[in-house]
Amino acid sequence: MILGNWKMHTLKADALTLAASMRTVAEATDTLIGICPPSLWVDQIVTEVADSRLMVGVQDCVADDFGAHTGCINAAMVANAGCAFALLGHSERRKRFGETSQTIAPAVGAILETGLFPVVCVGETEVDRDAGRADQVVAEQLAPLVGQGFDLDGVVIAYEPVWAIGTGRVATLAEIVAMHRWIREVLERPELVVLYGGSVSPETASSIFSSDQVSGALVGGASLDADKFAAIVAAWETR
Ligand code: PGA
Repeated sequence: MILGNWKMHTLKADALTLAASMRTVAEATDTLIGICPPSLWVDQIVTEVADSRLMVGVQDCVADDFGAHTGCINAAMVANAGCAFALLGHSERRKRFGETSQTIAPAVGAILETGLFPVVCVGETEVDRDAGRADQVVAEQLAPLVGQGFDLDGVVIAYEPVWAIGTGRVATLAEIVAMHRWIREVLERPELVVLYGGSVSPETASSIFSSDQVSGALVGGASLDADKFAAIVAAWETR
């Protein structure tokens, strides 16, 4: 599975053009391909790619039922808009909006209940890694997902070291492999889908994909360029 997170990029016309290109990429592969456009453009993009293999998701949502929650969208809305999945707990949301694994866990349950799949982002900061705390931090981020009463088999985890996001610095293959193993161990799910995210590009993808611990990628910057994204998908297919 290769997913693109557009973050806060694109005006509407650019978004529709990019989505059309992504659709072409998705149609040319058996790999599951998804994009997370800004929520304002999601509805129209879902309509335009409805008859294709391209999955559309949102970049975040909350667990709450309908109510007075200014600026939020909930799982029922995400499903009603025709999305296939939702990113949850991206480090940019954790940092800027104070989201925590405790607040994210109910949203994971809400997304699963609608029949969509959640992609839960976890990852340590550079300070944590330098202090030898990376495993502990990621285990703490995963812990609230356990014992919630939902089936963890339906959850996708994206391991995104914070220091690798948008920096051009990719974690080493050894770091990626060890953390993906650790995530499956902590959640006691050997078959779990675990994506890597953080400066995935046409240049870095082949090495990242060379381990069978890696189930795919969550791509930020390079997902804004359909050619780069297609090259990443090609690297996955020839791994
Ligand atoms: P990046 O972002 O590929 O630009 O590093 C990844 C992400 O934040 O999901």
